[in-house]
Parts: sequence; C-alpha cells; structure tokens
Amino acid sequence: MIPQRLAKALNEQIKNELESAYLYLSAAAYFHSLSLDGMAHWMRCQAHEETIHAMKFMDHLTDRNSPVTLLDMIQHKTRWISPLELWQDAYAHEQFITSKINELVTIARDEKDYQSEPLLAWFISEQIEEEATAAKISGEIDMVGDSKSALLMLDRELGGRAFPPGSPFDPLAYAQA
Ligand SMILES: [Fe+2]
Ligand SMILES: [Fe+2]
Repeated sequence: MIPQRLAKALNEQIKNELESAYLYLSAAAYFHSLSLDGMAHWMRCQAHEETIHAMKFMDHLTDRNSPVTLLDMIQHKTRWISPLELWQDAYAHEQFITSKINELVTIARDEKDYQSEPLLAWFISEQIEEEATAAKISGEIDMVGDSKSALLMLDRELGGRAFPPGSPFDPLAYAQA
C-alpha cells in the first residue's frame, strides 16, 4: 500500500494528466478551426501522450494495491485569441504540471515511499522534455510574428509528429471503423 497522503496526491495527478489531455484536445479543435492542421495534429498526439501519463499513475496505484479514484475534472481554457497565446498557455500548463510532479517527489520522500521513486524520476525527466518543447515552439511562434508563410511552414513541420500506432486520436486509426 502507498501511504495515504501520497496515494491521494497520485489520484489527483491522474486527474491533472487527463485535464492536460482535455486541454490539448481543445487546442487541437482551435487549431483545426484556423486550418492549422499540423498544429492540431501535434496537439492530438500530445493528448494521446497525456492519457498514457494518466495510465502510468493509475497502474502504479493498482500495482501497489492502493485504490484508484477518478476525480472530477475542471475545464481549462477552450478559446484563444491567437496561436501564440495558446502555445504560451501550453508552456505555462507544463510548468504547472512540473510543480505538481515536484510536490509528489516531496511527499514521497517525506513518507519514505521509495517504491514511487522510479516512476517519479521518469516524470521529472519527462517534464524537462515537455517544458523544453513547449518553450521552443512558443519562441518560434513568437519569432514568426505576422508572417503567414512562416506560420504555415511551422504548421507543416509540427504536422510531422508521429502518432503511437493505433492511437484513438489518429483519424487514420478509425478511418475504416
Ligand atoms: Fe503529462
Ligand atoms: Fe512528452
């Protein structure tokens, strides 16, 4: 069993990761509405990744014989005034998630729950990647300024991200369904 204080925080993190997926799906819908289909595709890939993060926490609780409770999700922003605002929000959101992972590490150490350390170490590395990626893309969008052709180029580039095979967020995965 996981110490109760940590188990509570891990359940909350399942919710945080699913809220991230929901936020990135809203972002995908916004980008589709602007015909920035490459960015929409990138956000759908990211939504998929967030559901995997949620499952990692869920599996950890289950493996440790601790109850999983799926909490109510809150609705994050669903409208933006520009792609720049959205990418800056994505970066801010990942910084928030990093703060939650850091809190989990603090609690795990306070409670001497060493068995949570490998999972949390994975998430520490993951958040370095997530923040770096969101910061890089935000910076590039900022550089693009008012140039529609540069924005389209970046959109094409982000559209090259690969879906994990069989992803339910990939239109090709359900094309025949
Ligand atoms: Fe995540
Ligand atoms: Fe990632």
